[in-house]
Amino acid sequence: MEVIAAKDYQDMSEKAASLIAEEINKQPAIVLGLATGGTPEGTYQALIREAGSVPLSRLQTFNLDEYAGLPPEHPNSYHFYMKEKLFLPLQLGANQTHLPRGDADDLQKEAGRYENHIQESGGIDLQLLGIGENGHIGFNEPGSSFDSRTHIVELKPSTREANARFFDEKEEVPHHAVTMGIQTIMESRRIMLLASGTRKQEAVTNLLEGKISEDFPASVLQKHPYVTIIADEAALSGVS
Ligand code: F6R
Repeated sequence: MEVIAAKDYQDMSEKAASLIAEEINKQPAIVLGLATGGTPEGTYQALIREAGSVPLSRLQTFNLDEYAGLPPEHPNSYHFYMKEKLFLPLQLGANQTHLPRGDADDLQKEAGRYENHIQESGGIDLQLLGIGENGHIGFNEPGSSFDSRTHIVELKPSTREANARFFDEKEEVPHHAVTMGIQTIMESRRIMLLASGTRKQEAVTNLLEGKISEDFPASVLQKHPYVTIIADEAALSGVS
């Protein structure tokens, strides 16, 4: 795994955006895998600033995950997040951006449809990831099978706790989500994982130096041929 050390959150975000812009310039019909949460917000802002010099009309995006039960217009849904923070500012067409529907009547069927859609689009060229403090990637919590494809997951209390900051009340955080599986993520041709702050220090150390185990889902990335980790000094401070 290639590690790019950034000074701080801003520097991490700018480095990540430049790298994404470079990939889009190389391959304008790129299929991007996108993440939500606090970590990629700065990257999306930096990408919006670079948008003038990047061809955007042919790219496709697939997001990692969505909360179960939240319709796209819900302010805490990942549909809403992506629209506000990236899709509208970049003026991407509705046919260019894809997320699983958390409010589908049959969530199981929706997970299968989403997985097929990714395959039919030729798979993900560049997948952007954050990392949970417990090592989750997407919403693949500790114990998730490395063979998993897009599926429904029950969120761990620690993940609901970590994400409560985005909701008015902690109780409002959904208990379930639909997420790309670990196998889906591993089939991406290139993976870029971002991490910032001391809160992620232990997870980043484990990711780089720990053993490969389903108990720490991100460790599977050690087996991927093309991973770039962009992390700031605080997140890298535990690495030997
Ligand atoms: C979000 C996602 C999650 C987050 C992770 C870190 O789409 O898939 O795995 O990347 O929970 O979240 P933040 O960036 O808020 O610390």
